[in-house]
Amino acid sequence: MNKFVSVKDVQNINALVQSALAFKKDPYKAATLGARKRIGMLFLNPSMRTRLSTQVAAQQLGMEAVVFNVGNEGWALEFEEEAIMSGNTVEHVKDAAPIMGKYFDILCIRTFPSLKNRDDDYSELYINQFIKYAGIPIVSLESATLHPLQSLTDIITITEALESQQVKSKSRRPKIVLTWAPHVKPLPQCVANSFSQWVNAWDEADFVITHPEDYELSPDFTKGATITHNQNEALRDADFVYVKNWSTFNDYGKIYVNDPEWMLTIKKLALTNNAKVMHCLPVRRNVELSDEILDGPNSLVTTQAGNRVWAAQAVLSAILGRK
Ligand code: CP
Repeated sequence: MNKFVSVKDVQNINALVQSALAFKKDPYKAATLGARKRIGMLFLNPSMRTRLSTQVAAQQLGMEAVVFNVGNEGWALEFEEEAIMSGNTVEHVKDAAPIMGKYFDILCIRTFPSLKNRDDDYSELYINQFIKYAGIPIVSLESATLHPLQSLTDIITITEALESQQVKSKSRRPKIVLTWAPHVKPLPQCVANSFSQWVNAWDEADFVITHPEDYELSPDFTKGATITHNQNEALRDADFVYVKNWSTFNDYGKIYVNDPEWMLTIKKLALTNNAKVMHCLPVRRNVELSDEILDGPNSLVTTQAGNRVWAAQAVLSAILGRK
């Protein structure tokens, strides 16, 4: 693997999932693979899970991890080609990225969307400029439109629940439902886009997406899923329910509704096949998801967040071991 910014960088999803689960069983089985190699982790935006899990994963492979909160501590970066830098930006990515390429063996970047201009965000300019200029493998720690380390973790968590028979599907293919949830702030579509992209590419489940009217995601990611505005109908016989808020895609970055009826409750969970409930975290309790579900036996959220380490370790080892 030469980079990891989308499911398109993965040749075999199940092989990567099994690599992650093997690291979960034996975290130090490749403890020297990354010896004398360094990973740079650039954060233009906040993080807890992604930062800590990727750092732990790198260290378990013998790598030295250097974290740089470039959004708070670094020079303001310019990303536009041929920019006349007479404003607030101090350093162009075409100057900064090759230098990072000299310091590190792998470079990881978190860069959220502005949610102001859809074309700009969906062009993925920031991460693409690092890919263009760094000269070393780039790993997305969540970009403007996708969160691939989260989505790999999600498929790992679903696979683990099925293999251990924690979830017994009524049919050959498990039913996975992605449901929109209310939130107080407009959030990116990244996690929902990415989850949709990965579940569709995985193609081992029946996939249903449910959201209020006018919350359609980009068809580039959802194509292949069943989409309905009827949440109760979507939940029927579900084996996994993935809960996530996102802001509008068509009239970009807006909140149209915040109807608390869309929050998943125990009553709604009764429609499912005793489904396991997932969320990428952080979660607004009793806005996005009720305490009764988060603290109850159906919640997979802590296991899911724990699995972030194994996803990162599988990806980093695939990059370190590339031919
Ligand atoms: N799920 C996730 O990416 O969490 P952080 O924003 O804390 O990294």
